[in-house]
Amino acid sequence: MSKYITTPIYYVNGEAHIGHAYTTFMADTMARYEKLKGEDTYFLTGTDEHGQKIEESAQKNNKPTQEFADEISATFKNLWDEFEIGYDKFIRTTDSDHKMGVQKAFEVMYAKGDIYKDFYEGHYCVSCETFFPETQLIDGEFCPDCGRTTTIVKEESYFFKLSKYEDRLLKLYEDQPDFILPLSRGNEVVNFVKGGLRDLSVTRTSFTWGVQMPKSLNDDKHVMYVWLDALMNYITALGYGKDDANMNYWPASTHFVGKDILRFHAIYWPAFLMSLDIPLPKHIAAHGWWTRDGEKMSKSKGNVIAPKEVADAYGVENLRYFMLREVPFGQDGDFSQRAFIDRINSELSNDLGNLLNRIIGMSGKYSDFEIDSVDVEKYHAKELDAMNQALGNLDAFMDNMQTHRYLEELWKLFSIGNTAITEHEPWVKMKNDKKDEALATVALVANILAKASIMLSPFMPRTTETIADALNFKIDTQSYNELVIDKKLLKLFNIKKVPPLFPRVEEPLIPEAPIAQPNAPKEPQEAKKDTSTDDDNLIEIGQFFETSLKVGVVIEAEEVPKSKKLLKLQVDLGEDSPRQVVAGIKEFYSAESLIDTQVCVVANLKPAKLMGMMSEGMLLAAKDEDGLCLIRPEKPKKVGTPIG
Ligand code: MSP
Repeated sequence: MSKYITTPIYYVNGEAHIGHAYTTFMADTMARYEKLKGEDTYFLTGTDEHGQKIEESAQKNNKPTQEFADEISATFKNLWDEFEIGYDKFIRTTDSDHKMGVQKAFEVMYAKGDIYKDFYEGHYCVSCETFFPETQLIDGEFCPDCGRTTTIVKEESYFFKLSKYEDRLLKLYEDQPDFILPLSRGNEVVNFVKGGLRDLSVTRTSFTWGVQMPKSLNDDKHVMYVWLDALMNYITALGYGKDDANMNYWPASTHFVGKDILRFHAIYWPAFLMSLDIPLPKHIAAHGWWTRDGEKMSKSKGNVIAPKEVADAYGVENLRYFMLREVPFGQDGDFSQRAFIDRINSELSNDLGNLLNRIIGMSGKYSDFEIDSVDVEKYHAKELDAMNQALGNLDAFMDNMQTHRYLEELWKLFSIGNTAITEHEPWVKMKNDKKDEALATVALVANILAKASIMLSPFMPRTTETIADALNFKIDTQSYNELVIDKKLLKLFNIKKVPPLFPRVEEPLIPEAPIAQPNAPKEPQEAKKDTSTDDDNLIEIGQFFETSLKVGVVIEAEEVPKSKKLLKLQVDLGEDSPRQVVAGIKEFYSAESLIDTQVCVVANLKPAKLMGMMSEGMLLAAKDEDGLCLIRPEKPKKVGTPIG
């Protein structure tokens, strides 16, 4: 049976960040795993290029929309190519084949009576490209997902009869309990559907950057809703609406998605497919959200990490390993350099890298680099049993996307190898004239490394290729079948020396995240400047003085309801009226404790709206693992005193 694995297609309104890299690593690893097992596997990724959000981003960048989309889409493709992501197709929703496929799907659903024309009036969040009912809005105005202001949109629209599929969807979740993975995420979807589904507006007339309506409808005013367009990519990539060339891969085995877009994939997508009479995907696997040093990443905080920056510093395969080892699939994960460095040094360098070095060294001394498995079973039956048991457990972890458990289990092999060396002390055996025993231990470890490399190869393809090369074999389906499935041992061979695979890392290799302050709106270019590593980013003194820093006094402070982090302050800077500053410091300061205290304020930031409140400045603060503290004048100063 063939396999079909997909990532979400990424919006082209900004460059890739670590969250995008995670989904892509996850899907790539899964696809490589299936290919290793000999499954005929198709792996799709790509970019989502239509919708108001992209149109607006292009305008902000003063570029024609298509040109803008081309540029950003290329940054994703180039990055995945540089990271050696083994996709079989990179789809763009501006591809003409895709657009044709979407139009065909629309026609089929329309002909079936599942799409009708009406009027829509509702609150729309452009950033999330989603309508929200008034009851879900914060303070009747702000988007419940991102906190931005929504706008009221009234327009003629085509609607998809989502409500018609409510019962069939509920039956789907019941009959196929692993449709949504991890299982714990299923409930929220079921509850949402049980709450009642309203028909879905699937066209827009307020902008033009979208797939045109099918000619047969003769209604040029409308373009397709971006989510209808985007979800269809999973079948248009296989030739739906054109030649069905690769539709034999359908239904998808797994659509990997972030938890924020689960609803679209677990409700709208199966309903569209039901309407099209196309079989449903097997799994929608939703992963959690990545934070950086415990903070949500955002351009405005300047703490977004570019995956390329991390990969350039630490190696892309180390990054893959870290991300897939660190977080139980489905849960949120935190990117911290400390945790990353610990895993490189202890798991990759000590457990794996040293084991390889040790047997290269020993075999060089004892047998002129020759390794022979002939006596392994005789002296190491216990270790072979334990190893085979761990290897046998791996598949089940991968089936449930539990990469962290998979890697943990795989690491048992290295521990078996390291313990065997400590217990059997081959150097003592050599002295005591028991060379065959000493060589059996070295050969045991070589076999452990070979089998483990095969199973690690979907995670670290290049590194394991180097290990396999040292052990004189190739990682492919044949060696997987022989060494892992049939449990055979390596044939007589000469081991090759390799340079250390995982040099230890002593210090963080990229600048740490800037202090988190949610009220610091920054353009993407500025954010990049903050995280750049190179010395060219030293600034002139004049540039520093472009920032107006002033001493202020807090005259009022109150908590922002429904926000865990924000306090709303009125700060006197010696101007005609106090400034309102919304600051993310609620976890560290109570509102009362701030009143009548002095603070240092960035006074010439463009005002920004946070949860619907204007913020007209930013407080200086320092934050480390012990928490956050405000930077204040050592002695009270007159309000408005410039700092610098
Ligand atoms: N274009 C839609 C997907 C359409 S699929 C038919 C989209 N694009 S996105 O670029 O905004 O997000 C793509 C994926 O990145 C989503 O799965 C989202 O969950 C994921 N992530 C975005 N930020 C993330 C983190 N900070 N952490 C982990 N994943 C995150 O949504």
